[in-house]
Formats: sequence, C-alpha cells, structure tokens
Amino acid sequence: MIYLDNAATSLKKPNSLYPSILKNTIINSANAGRGGHFYSLRASELIYKTSESLCELFNIKEPEQIAYMQNATMALNSGILGMLDKDSHVIITQMEHNSVLRPVHKTCEYTMIKADKQGRINIKDIEKAITKNTKMIICTHASNVCGTIMPIDKISKIAHRHGLYFMVDAAQTAGSVPIDVQKTDIDILAFSGHKGLMMPMGTGGIYVKNGIKIKPVITGGTGSFSESLEQPDIMPDMLQSGTLNAPAIISAKKSIDFILREGTGEILKKETELSDFLINELNNIKNVVVHSPLTNRNGTVAFNIKNMDSVEVADILNTDYKICTRGGWHCAYPAHCALGTQKSGAIRASFGYFNSKDDAKKLVDAIYKISQKKFKNYV
Ligand SMILES: Cc1ncc(COP(=O)(O)O)c(C=O)c1O
Repeated sequence: MIYLDNAATSLKKPNSLYPSILKNTIINSANAGRGGHFYSLRASELIYKTSESLCELFNIKEPEQIAYMQNATMALNSGILGMLDKDSHVIITQMEHNSVLRPVHKTCEYTMIKADKQGRINIKDIEKAITKNTKMIICTHASNVCGTIMPIDKISKIAHRHGLYFMVDAAQTAGSVPIDVQKTDIDILAFSGHKGLMMPMGTGGIYVKNGIKIKPVITGGTGSFSESLEQPDIMPDMLQSGTLNAPAIISAKKSIDFILREGTGEILKKETELSDFLINELNNIKNVVVHSPLTNRNGTVAFNIKNMDSVEVADILNTDYKICTRGGWHCAYPAHCALGTQKSGAIRASFGYFNSKDDAKKLVDAIYKISQKKFKNYV
C-alpha cells in the first residue's frame, strides 16, 4: 500500500520510536508527578525531557508552558472554551477545521474571514472584522484540505496591535513546517502529536505564553496543591489534569529529536517538492481540477476528477491501486465552500516525510487511468 493520508495521521514513524514505545510501556509507566518514589520521579523527568525537545522545535523558553493532551482537538477546545464566552467575539478563517468551528460556534460570537478558491485570505479583511468585543484571532497554520499556509506572522501583528490574543492551530504544521512562537509572537499554540510530529496516537498539546490564564475545561488531580479545591493556575497543571500517556510522551522524544536532526525547513521542502510534482502532473490530465495553490503550500493537495464523486475516487484508489487518500469534506465544510467543492468534496493526497517521488508518480498514473474510467475491482 502507498500511504498518502499524512494530514490525518503519520502512519510511518521514525525507526527509533518503535523500540522506545515498547521499552517505555514496560518500564516507564509509573504515574508522573504522583509521588516521590523513583519510578514516578523518573517518569516526570523523562516527560520534561520531551518538553525540552519541543521547546527547541518551537523556540519556547519554558518547558512548563507546554501541557500534554490527547490531541489538537482537546488543546483547541481548551483555548476556546477557557478564554471566550457568550459576550466575546472571535475572528476565525473559512479554512478552519471543525475542532475550531464547533467549539467557537457553541461559545461566542464570531466572524469568519472568507478565503478564495485556493484557500487564501486577504489579510486586510481581518483588521476590518475587529469589533469592541473581539478578544482573540484563531487561525489554522495550514489548511488540512488544500495545504495553503496562512500568513501567521502578519496576523499576529494585527492581533497584538489591537491587544487581542492570537491562537494558532498547528495540527497540520507542527513537525513539518518551521514554527517559532517567539518570532511569530504566538499566545497559544495547539498541536497534534500524531501527525507531523510523528508521535504515537493519543498525543498532542498546548503551549500557552507565560502570564496568560486559561480557565480549564477539565479539572482534577494534578499531583500538586492536593489540599486545595481550586485547580492550580500555573502551567502545566492548569491544563493538565489526570494521568498522562507517559509511555507515548516519553517515547515521542525520539521522534522530535529525529525532526530536529532533519530540520523542519528540509521536511517542508521535501514534502512541498512532492506536492509540486503532483500538482504539475495532475494539471496535465484532462478532466482533473486541482484546488491547491502553487505557492505557500505544504505537502497536501486537493483535487477532483470532473463528474466523479471524490469519495468514490478515493475508494477506487484504495481497492484497485492500493493508494490511501481521503475523499469527502475533511471535517472542514466552509473550506470546501471556499474552494467551490461544497457539493463534490475533494480527493486529498497528503505527503509525509517518508513518501517518495515514486509514490507521487503512482498516484498520477492511477488518477490518469481512473479519469479514463479504468477501474475493475471497485463495486
Ligand atoms: C487543521 C486541523 N485542526 C485540528 C485537527 C484536530 O487534530 P486531532 O486529530 O489531533 O484532534 C485536525 C485534524 O485533522 C486538523 O487538520
């Protein structure tokens, strides 16, 4: 099988991760932060080391400012529900994922900045949307549908010029696109562990700039201040209640260190070269329409074969050609409205670090044949 669904999760991980998971599941599964004994202290220390690697990756000063969660969805919900209420207004873009859209929709007033047919926004629209109640701007770093990379440096400047918080959804970019929370001046960064960071599933987290207080959605045991009924307001305890997935978080250091060695700049270059190649080739096939931009894009490409259902094409790729992609609406319907694919959805091919040009060539060949109606096993 050829795996081209890295925007959903990275199936293959660095080789160094696998023995580490086995080892840590067996020997480092004591409860971190829950006692003064050897095993608990060791688990806490090793989790801290993973945080130190993340600090290096995102240019974060204090490892304590990172709280671990199960995924980016929990991190985004924490930032949204913990900072906003029915009296606040937030600015989001049309390219957001349901992990932003749904919690925002149920919590506060919002303005959705329109995107063009390739997922790009006009930065001037953001400034125009600010009202006296606006508290925050939330933006995905890259679209999970068509790979468009958003101008987060510019958006951050607008946010801070107006005294607003700036939260970045880095689910599609953490580990595969350079992120510098200090240079970009990011207040809150939500990230998945299991996608570009190549960590095991059930990992993700949130970085919160020192001094920002978030009302926690989940409260409970933190192993600290046990005598108090109030949730501690220091990071990471403020947002990190309950037992952590210690074996996965500890092992994840192997993946992050692999990424640090390769360099996110190089990873982005490699994935973008594959998506550039795919777009160029798809553009030469009659009846194929590409929805991704030519520049400012990562390794994700959205496209359609005219008059064919996107889910059906993804199924044929899977059954006849042994290629894993994803058809449909990718938990981001407004983004599809921007691309003009609200009725059809789109086929999404998303490259990861371990894909090769040969994988891209095989996809092009398969799409050409399907566009010529050459498929057999599909029923
Ligand atoms: C842009 C974006 N935000 C948030 C999420 C949610 O991430 P997770 O699966 O880690 O909860 C996704 C997942 O695909 C995503 O693509």
